Amino acid sequence: MRGIILSGGSGSRLKPLTKITSKQLLPIYDRPMIYYPLNTLIKAGIKEILIIIAPERAGDYLNLLGGGKEFGVKFTYEIQDKPEGLAQAFIIAENFIGQESVAMILGDNIFEDDFSEEIKSFKSGAKIFAKKVSDPERFGVIKLDENLKPKFIIEKPKDKISDLAVTGLYVFDNRVVEIAKNIKPSDRGELEITDVNNWYLQKGELEVAMVNGEWLDAGTFESLLKAQNIAKEKLVGKMII
Ligand code: DAU
Repeated sequence: MRGIILSGGSGSRLKPLTKITSKQLLPIYDRPMIYYPLNTLIKAGIKEILIIIAPERAGDYLNLLGGGKEFGVKFTYEIQDKPEGLAQAFIIAENFIGQESVAMILGDNIFEDDFSEEIKSFKSGAKIFAKKVSDPERFGVIKLDENLKPKFIIEKPKDKISDLAVTGLYVFDNRVVEIAKNIKPSDRGELEITDVNNWYLQKGELEVAMVNGEWLDAGTFESLLKAQNIAKEKLVGKMII
């Protein structure tokens, strides 16, 4: 299993904090934000990790993380020239993924759960992780049927279809590269991860697991502040990096 951390984008919702640095390098209590998703992948036993970054910030990431020896893993870096969507990561990562499966985590997603078992037991298809939230309109949202099987996923739905957000950790088999190449940009001009998830869903190959512990997308001032407190209270003791 290969790992990807998607850590590009312009962090425009967090300006001026992100005027001179990347959102995912901002402090979350005593560590840079990216340490938390990195910890999630490393804890799950993933040893080869691709870090996808924006060109203007590449030097900062290299200075901070280096080759990965310090963490007992190997880092590879790729540049995403423009933030053209989460699913573009799989096109950028084609050579890195090779013939393997891949777990991708977003650089601003902070999880309390340990996903080792979920990731190690993955065989084929797709696996995503959902969490009940009070503000589903901010996320990809999944509707389950009466047997708790996934029915559909909508990216940032205006109408309330369910309160289950799709979190920023995704596990895919090797087909994901070709799927990403074949989806069309959405109205906001991005290759949407939701379209990739719906592709597997329609084939009956999308598994949905629940997130039990805390989960935060630290992309707004409010969630950034919340993440600081949760990190201090619940996460630092569980970090291995
Ligand atoms: O946090 C989970 C949510 O992440 C999911 O529920 C949504 O389905 C998914 O689309 C995504 O929504 P966001 O609105 O949070 O995506 P955002 O544009 O904020 O990007 C998420 C992270 O990925 C952010 O740290 C920046 C980075 N990114 C984003 C894009 C679009 C990139 O590195 N490259 C990109 O092209």
